[in-house]
Amino acid sequence: MLRHVKDDLFQIGESVAGRDGWHEAVRVYVLMNDGCPLLFDSGSHIHSGEIMAELKSLLGDTAPGYVFLTHTELPHTGNIKLILDVWPDTKLVVSSAILPHVELPWWVADDQVLYGYAGTEETYGGRRISFLDGILKDQPGTHWMYDGTTGTLFTADAFGYLYPGAADLKFDDELEDGIAGDWLKRYHESAFRFLPMVSGAKVTADIARVFRKRDVRAIAPTHGNAVRHDIAQCIDRFNNAILEICR
Ligand SMILES: [Fe+2]
Ligand SMILES: [Fe+2]
Repeated sequence: MLRHVKDDLFQIGESVAGRDGWHEAVRVYVLMNDGCPLLFDSGSHIHSGEIMAELKSLLGDTAPGYVFLTHTELPHTGNIKLILDVWPDTKLVVSSAILPHVELPWWVADDQVLYGYAGTEETYGGRRISFLDGILKDQPGTHWMYDGTTGTLFTADAFGYLYPGAADLKFDDELEDGIAGDWLKRYHESAFRFLPMVSGAKVTADIARVFRKRDVRAIAPTHGNAVRHDIAQCIDRFNNAILEICR
């Protein structure tokens, strides 16, 4: 479902219903970027029809300039083929030169792929995007992106949450009390099974460093809706969830 988050940031994509009515979102984010749209992940292949329809209705005749892939699991890359079929000149931006060779599908041509290295910043269609290593990830090579114009941090699998169906399309400011700590905890303990073996103090210290260095005004997780209102509350609840799950 297409939703406007803030400024020129939009959210599309669907969700899947899991056990006991808990839903998990699989989102794609779009910065319209004045004629050179930037996509963050391509969405799940199981939602191809909806995602392509939403993209076409949002973009109209404008081709996306770049698709930034946080990592190569199917919920994040499943629609690359359909996107490139419609817009063959769109470039992909990945974290490592190894990905096109071992993890991206064979039909992705080498010259379509650009690299965004953690700790660097590049301009795409006039927009500065910086890259950082994914602090919390389920696949090596996962990177996060930051757009200083909107203050959006694209966090891939981290900062997702499981939620009851009624919250499917609600941003944090549209819920009675923001994103519940319990929702964040349910998601992170199932998405990152290694967390009980990890130091929670270390994870939360690393997360704090990420936010200290940047003026984050929106968090854009793939498996949740964008957090656009109370960033501090979300980080606080995230930290509590991590400290409860970790050792
Ligand atoms: Fe993942
Ligand atoms: Fe994921």
